[in-house]
Amino acid sequence: MSESIETRLAALTTEEKADLVAGEAIWTTKSFPVAGIPAIGVTDGPNGARGGGLLGTGTATACIPAGAVLGATWDPELVERLGGLLGDEARAKGCRVLLAPTINLHRNPLGGRNFECYSEDPILSGLVAASFIRGVQSRGVATTPKHFAANDSEFERNTIDSQVDERTLRELYLVPFEYAVAEGGTWGVMSAYNRLNGIFCSENEWLLTQVLRDEWGFDGFVVSDWFAARSTAGSARAGLSLEMPGPGQWYNRGPIGEALAAGEMDEGHLDRIAGDVLRMLERTGALDGDEDCQPGQERELDRPEDRALVRQAAAAGTVLVANNGVLPLNPAMAGSLAVIGPNARKAQIMGGGSATVQGYRNVSLMEALGDEYGHLDVRYAQGCDIERSLVALSAPMLKGKLRLEYFNGHDWAGPVVHTKESASAEMVFFGEPGPGVNPEEFSVRASGVLVAEATGEHTLGLVQLGRCRILLDGETVLDATEGDYDQGDDFFGMGSELISAEVQLTAGRETPIVIEYSNRDSFMLCGVRVGLKSQVDRDLIAEAEAAAAAADVAVVVVGTNADWETEGRDRDSFDLPGDQPELIRRVAAANPNTVVVVNTGGACNLDWADQVAGVLVAGFGGQEMGHAVADVLFGQADPGGRMAMTVPARYEHNPAYLNYPGENGVVRYGEGLYIGHRWFDARAIEPAVPFGHGLSYATFEWSAPRVTGGGDAEMADPVIVEVDVVNNSDRAGSDVVQVYVEPPPSLLHRPVRELKGFAKVHLAPGERTTARIVLTRRAFAYYDPGDQTPQGLDSMSPIPAGESHKRTEPGWYVDPGSYTIWTARSSANLVHPAKVQLDELTI
Ligand code: BGC
Repeated sequence: MSESIETRLAALTTEEKADLVAGEAIWTTKSFPVAGIPAIGVTDGPNGARGGGLLGTGTATACIPAGAVLGATWDPELVERLGGLLGDEARAKGCRVLLAPTINLHRNPLGGRNFECYSEDPILSGLVAASFIRGVQSRGVATTPKHFAANDSEFERNTIDSQVDERTLRELYLVPFEYAVAEGGTWGVMSAYNRLNGIFCSENEWLLTQVLRDEWGFDGFVVSDWFAARSTAGSARAGLSLEMPGPGQWYNRGPIGEALAAGEMDEGHLDRIAGDVLRMLERTGALDGDEDCQPGQERELDRPEDRALVRQAAAAGTVLVANNGVLPLNPAMAGSLAVIGPNARKAQIMGGGSATVQGYRNVSLMEALGDEYGHLDVRYAQGCDIERSLVALSAPMLKGKLRLEYFNGHDWAGPVVHTKESASAEMVFFGEPGPGVNPEEFSVRASGVLVAEATGEHTLGLVQLGRCRILLDGETVLDATEGDYDQGDDFFGMGSELISAEVQLTAGRETPIVIEYSNRDSFMLCGVRVGLKSQVDRDLIAEAEAAAAAADVAVVVVGTNADWETEGRDRDSFDLPGDQPELIRRVAAANPNTVVVVNTGGACNLDWADQVAGVLVAGFGGQEMGHAVADVLFGQADPGGRMAMTVPARYEHNPAYLNYPGENGVVRYGEGLYIGHRWFDARAIEPAVPFGHGLSYATFEWSAPRVTGGGDAEMADPVIVEVDVVNNSDRAGSDVVQVYVEPPPSLLHRPVRELKGFAKVHLAPGERTTARIVLTRRAFAYYDPGDQTPQGLDSMSPIPAGESHKRTEPGWYVDPGSYTIWTARSSANLVHPAKVQLDELTI
């Protein structure tokens, strides 16, 4: 512990230290003015810095591409710059801690938060995470890589026991966190909700102390996931530094005082965790008395250079999976374009849950085409619906934004105390809804204009946590301000079921809408979502077919929304929701130049891919997504992405299939080391799209790899792999040299080959460079937990001394032999082998 931290600790009483380790409120820590310790703000999260809002409410902010897109960039340098942007945004939102990055692994395609996580692969995740962290922390903002550990699905997420053998943990699920510590130098870590091998992560001493601190040398703070703390002494002893949110339930002077008095923990434990919190405050500059980053002081940045960076990143993470030559489209073409699909007009730029932010912009492909390709003849057809439940009203049926007026009291009466604008008819409140608004008793009137697209019957619906009524043209058409209502699964299961009314609307006519909401009958969390759905009978697929048949090229944007891919719930299906697969097939039959853009967060079924001319996997691309997709479609940007996850040909082929989602409170990681490409290679199963695959518009030639180093017995020097890459096309582009290591037969079973490093290169036409990949000893090692069978257990056939071929000492081992180093374009497209001979090593 540094001297300054020791001095600060010594100045605090036991009670103050016990208070320091619990938050003050949902997004703030406590202040101790006499000791010169200010409160600081913390904010989600991985694709933006939201500030004090909840679920996409709050001050507008930059929405960068979701984690799975960042993984697909294979570009740590670019991700570091995005990290810097989020660091700036966090400070502009008065926060010194960014609750990010999310670095669990894509174990199963249905994982509800896969969109937030980088990849199926621990090395790719680890390298991207480390650069994200360096970027954020370069702005004096701490990161909390999450969720430590084995929180890879949402099923029973608060209690599930992830049962994972130690070798699998060490070689897969812990690796991104190890990189976050060793390469990223993270100042924080967030412990997960789940249990790991029977013990809740927030009180798991093996995880939080033995591995994280003692083995990896982490000296930062561990914050609980929100409400994930489970105990007082157990957590403090295990190394949980900060309970969030506040006020603390397990930490603060009451429970900690009792635990100390009962001798369940001692002052040393308290000093250790309070010291962790102080160190975070010191590192983020909070103890220097700088005034420019105070909780509640929120500013918008929205800098032009940030928009450009976010746009570049979205294109860099877009994967061109297949192309029969239809792409890139000629930007000067005078022809016509059919643009089809719900997500073409309403881009899904991020997933649902705590990662949700209110982006500065939300650019769809249609909007981008209107902005920059106005000369094209573009026809839009929706094609089908993809709602899972009530979707909040927003553009284009909502014209412009809603204007929100806040009143103190439940009755929309008295002076307007606060105003705000919102692009969607979803309001969520937790804590103070705005300056001057009484959180105990308030009401909001939201006014705007509706424009229906069809004439006839529409369903106007709401789900509420509180009380709401809706007026159209000044008439109350839906009133849920009185009477009982049943609960549904919205608002974390506390909201009402859908309450709806049928209304008649006329296509193109502007209809004033007023949504009046009050927080009466709610507690703490409150809000309302209002949606509108046309019931007018239309054959949407036939309309899309007709539009496609009449156009030169059809672009179908398929995808999900934040209701399908969200925190708190795994996805229901591997297939695209609604009639989208059928829509693709029928559009492709109507137009041979059909390109499909996949706007999902995680992997989905692509069994229609061989029927279309081109497939782009764009993911949840952030606020500039529409521009980035247009850039790639028209060749203004190279599709820089490579798949960060394997797409199985059938859902049943996924490695976790037999061990997902779990039962009786347990999810057994029975597939062990074999997730992602490790599984498909071991089982010789051909995936729909292999890990690492992605095409460029440019073409690149690679030299055979030059492999040096690693020769001496201790492998003191790393193995260096160098490949000369030349862009032999007439277009600028990027390429990713991937390096997979194939071990010789080893003492323990090992995957056939594993990604161990990569380098992304950007080359102008004709340009040449050398890609350099460094492989340390760990790239060749595996973790052997050792045979822990008690000596002499089998008295019938004792192994004569000296003849056991098993190790008993756990650790990282390199077996002697000839290792093949493959340079590759994907896990299934191996380019050049090289051999390296290694001696036996213990790390
Ligand atoms: C999520 C975390 C998030 C926290 C605060 C939790 O529900 O799991 O990722 O940082 O909420 O919003």
